[in-house]
Amino acid sequence: VGSSIDFAPFEFQDEGQAEYQGFDMDLIRAIGKEMGYEVEIQNIGFDGLIPAMQAKNIDVIISGMTINDERKENVLFSDPYYQSGLTMVVRSDEQAIKSFQDLKGHKVAVQIGTTSAEAVKKLGGVEVKELNTPADCFMELKGNGVDAVVNDRPVNDYYITKSGETGVKALEEKLTAEDYGIAMAKDNTELQSKINEALKKLKENGEYDKIYAKWFGGQK
Ligand code: ARG
Repeated sequence: VGSSIDFAPFEFQDEGQAEYQGFDMDLIRAIGKEMGYEVEIQNIGFDGLIPAMQAKNIDVIISGMTINDERKENVLFSDPYYQSGLTMVVRSDEQAIKSFQDLKGHKVAVQIGTTSAEAVKKLGGVEVKELNTPADCFMELKGNGVDAVVNDRPVNDYYITKSGETGVKALEEKLTAEDYGIAMAKDNTELQSKINEALKKLKENGEYDKIYAKWFGGQK
């Protein structure tokens, strides 16, 4: 399984800890267990994940990856497993940027190869800086290299609340609504149905809800 381990609370690694952790990591391990497999996770940069699967270095991608038509030309997706969307983070003292419309004429950081990168380019008139990880984007924001970061809402929220980050804030407005899916090779319909079956089972037996509550708290 390939994942870009830079996306807390979905996939990340704490300093001094060997295990990759997060919602996606727990979910894919549970799916593997359900299927009778032990899951081996490889850390691959987000924009390298689909190429790595096409080169047959990995069989599956779980990486907070949004299901969209462009990707469907190259991979198969499981049923959706998480509802997400894009929001933006600005410096706490930001006055000029209150909505996505205000981004025109500003510099914005996004992770390379993501739906954020695509969505911000589509806004038009925005200077887009594509960086390797969301952490790089946030660093750029704090260092005044950009005026906003566009990224997945749960990741922005986790960054601000869980890491106790000060000096930046997330805005409420959502640019898009997106569903995450697990990806596999375009011709691997057998794996797709097995993964869907396992996912369905985990939703029915309460295991999915447990994993959800562990990372996001409360009920879905
Ligand atoms: N949901 C977005 C996309 O699919 C961003 C995913 C980034 N994932 C990661 N592990 N960095 O394009």
